[in-house]
Order: sequence, then C-alpha cells, then structure tokens
Amino acid sequence: MFNKSFLVILLLATGALSSPLIKRTGKSITLPVARRVNITGGAHSLLKHDQARAKAIKERKANIPTHGKAKSFSAAFGVPITNQVVDYAVTVGVGNPPTAFNLLIDTGSSNTWVGAQPTNPFVISSSSQDTGNLVEVIYGSGFVLGEQFIDQLTIGDVVIENQSLGAAILNQGFTDVDGIIGIGPTVLTTGTLFPATDDLVPTVTDNAFAQGLIDADLVSVSFAPTQDLSSTNGELIFGDVDPAKFVGDIHFVPITSTVPANEFVGIDQTITYGAAATPILNLTSGITDTGTTLLLIASDAFAAYQTVTGGVPDDDTGLLRLTPEQFGNLESLFFNIGDATFEFTPNAQIFPRALNTAIGGSDDFVYLIVNDIGSLSGEGLDFIDGMTFQERFFTVFDSTNSQFGIANTVNTFATPN
Ligand SMILES: *[C@@H]1O[C@H](CO)[C@@H](O)[C@H](O)[C@H]1NC(C)=O
Ligand SMILES: *[C@@H]1O[C@H](CO)[C@@H](O)[C@H](O)[C@H]1NC(C)=O
Ligand SMILES: *[C@@H]1O[C@H](CO)[C@@H](O)[C@H](O)[C@H]1NC(C)=O
Repeated sequence: MFNKSFLVILLLATGALSSPLIKRTGKSITLPVARRVNITGGAHSLLKHDQARAKAIKERKANIPTHGKAKSFSAAFGVPITNQVVDYAVTVGVGNPPTAFNLLIDTGSSNTWVGAQPTNPFVISSSSQDTGNLVEVIYGSGFVLGEQFIDQLTIGDVVIENQSLGAAILNQGFTDVDGIIGIGPTVLTTGTLFPATDDLVPTVTDNAFAQGLIDADLVSVSFAPTQDLSSTNGELIFGDVDPAKFVGDIHFVPITSTVPANEFVGIDQTITYGAAATPILNLTSGITDTGTTLLLIASDAFAAYQTVTGGVPDDDTGLLRLTPEQFGNLESLFFNIGDATFEFTPNAQIFPRALNTAIGGSDDFVYLIVNDIGSLSGEGLDFIDGMTFQERFFTVFDSTNSQFGIANTVNTFATPN
C-alpha cells in the first residue's frame, strides 16, 4: 500500500501541496447513465466550474509534468475548486469481488479513477496489482492524485482486465461522484503518471477493444434533457452506435488539427443565429465535452450572442437571463459541422425552467445555457459544446478513425425545458 510519508515528501518536493439492447451486428457494451443536478456549492458555480475547466483545457500543455518536475501540482493548487453542478454518471465495478463506484463520464480526460469519497474507497482485492506509480490529473475545477493500480473493471456484464486505475489519495472538486471514467483520446493521459514516463495509459475503451470485448475502439453518448434533479435518462455505448437513440444519419468529421483542440474530441464548426443567419462564431476549432455543462463560446462570439438575444447578465446565476417575452422571440442557433447543419432550438438554449430555483434563479426569468468561455476567438479553443449541447444530439467519438460523429435525436426539437 502507498506510504503516506512518501506522499508528503513528494508534495513538498513538487512545490505544492441500458436501455434494452436492440439487435446489433457487433459486440458492444451499453450502460445506463444518470443525470444529476446539485447546486449546494452555491449560485454561479455552474459557470465558474465550466470556465475553470476551459482554462485548464487551454493550458493543459503547459501543465504536463516534464521528467522529474511535476509542474501540474502547483497548477492544481492555484485554481479555485468548484464542484460540478450537473453531471452524467455511470456505475462500474472495480476488483474481484467488485466494489461499485459511481463515475462521472468525461470525454475531456482519459484517466479512470475511483475513491473520491472516503466513505467508498478503493478496495484492494484479489485482482488488484499496485504498480508503485502515482497518477495525477488536473481538471481546472479540481484535481486527483492517486495510486495507480492495474485491476478488473466490470461495466455492464463485461469484465475488462488489466485496466489502469487511480485509487484516490487526495482529490478536490468531486463531492457527488466516486471518480471519473475518462473516455477521451488516449493522448490526454500524457504526463499523468509519476514518476514521469512518456507512456500513455490505455483508456477503458482501448482495453475493451484490445481484449475483443467490443468490435470498435469507439464510444457513443446518448444524453437527454430533463426537468428533474435526478434522472437515469442516458446511455453510454462502448464499441457501437445505438440506432434507437438517433434519427437520420450520423455525420462524421475528422478530429480537428488545431492546437489545443486536436488532443480532445475537437472539431471545427460555425455558429449562426436565426433566420437571418447572423454570424456568432465563424469557422473555428473547439471541443465537445461531457465534463462541461454549458455551451461555452469565445468572448467576442458571446458578445454577439448577447446582442442578438438581448440577454442580460444575471447576478444570481451568472447566466444570461431573458424575460418570458424575450424568450418568445428567441431564434435557433445553427451549427455547421462538416457539411451538415444542426439546429439548436430556443428550448435547447435555456436551462430547464423547472430547475431555475435550484441554480439560484427565479421563476420569472428564462436562463440561457450559452455563455462565455473566458477568452477571445482565434486561440484554438473557441467553443466547448458541453453536455447541454449533447443532450440534443447523439454523439460518437471514434478513436480508431480519429473522427467525431453527430446525429439528431428525438430530443433535438423537443421542448422539455
Ligand atoms: C451536493 O453537493 C454538496 C457539496 O457541494 C455535497 O455536500 C452534497 O452531498 C451533494 N448532494 C448530493 C445529493 O450528492
Ligand atoms: C493481463 O495481464 C496479465 C499479466 O501481464 C496477462 O498475463 C494477461 O494475459 C492480461 N490479460 C488480458 C486479457 O490482456
Ligand atoms: C465572420 O464572418 C462574417 C461574414 O463572413 C464577417 O462579416 C465577420 O467580420 C467575421 N467575423 C470575424 C470575427 O472574423
């Protein structure tokens, strides 16, 4: 087991303290996904969390530890910790016999770790092998430092062997979950091990594919809007798409080549507003991310959006607010991704009104989920299509072909909010 005094020395040294399966041709694994809202952390934490995360994503390269120098610890301790307000989580089993953990689904990171809550720690079992390494990941809004184990991971009724896992020693920013299942590009594991190596850490998807448990190294995400604080309304599918969860064709585009979006599930897109096709964001790069709640756009684009919508910054929530009358005039946003256009309706652009008071808002207003990424466009990360965006579409991250897929769903034009 990990020696705590070594940890202290290290910290000092580093200067820081399913839905029913429909018939498919291939092998895949489907997990039900729960969506939860918890604003206990206070109003504004929704936006603060997402902006802190956006900043960390932009600065990731600078924070990767080089051999012998774990720069990222100081980065981790330098930012305010903000708990996730909305999360999508799945339950997985670790070890033999398995211990159940409720993990946040994150396409914006690629390490999987457990034990965020002292009440549900990692348990060494017959399948656990301690590697002697540490794992550390910086999320902007929080971080984890853990001990690396190779262990069994049970997802659905499938057992993935030899999965690298972090067993949390220290973590901040994760009050509602037991850890993270990181299903983004494998390159995001660069520099997460200590002592530092150049080794990448295969993700859960990579291992399931390598072990023949799924037929493709891809993962599909089906999220859905809800007015409830807690609802199991999503699906995470390893190795396949689920035709029951989308409408029409899936449009695929290559992962963008623009730094830094290229290391994430990064794409190029334009955004226009309304029938007049008012430009909000010209063709530029950004990412899709299940670990971000809002739809964040570059500050200049956000200013353009504020102008066309008439949205007023709201002190209580940190979001833009509209009167019901303004909401009546709100038009759709149009996302051009590759050669396809996706409509993001007025109803999709607002926080579920039934949950206004849960985020510190008022029933008299309508709050927009489009907000400011915190920096100007042209910096390689000009948008984050977060979970509120993904609730309206079916998305696929295809690691083998380095591409992103998106399709309409029954929720694209629905009006639950
Ligand atoms: C909500 O978050 C707070 C801290 O921000 C935490 O103490 C509480 O347990 C959470 N509630 C649930 C239901 O997870
Ligand atoms: C897991 O690792 C062990 C030891 O390296 C190896 O013998 C075994 O074949 C691996 N299992 C799988 C499914 O890759
Ligand atoms: C975006 O494109 C429009 C129309 O082509 C152009 O008028 C505008 O100046 C562009 N904006 C930026 C920030 O490049």
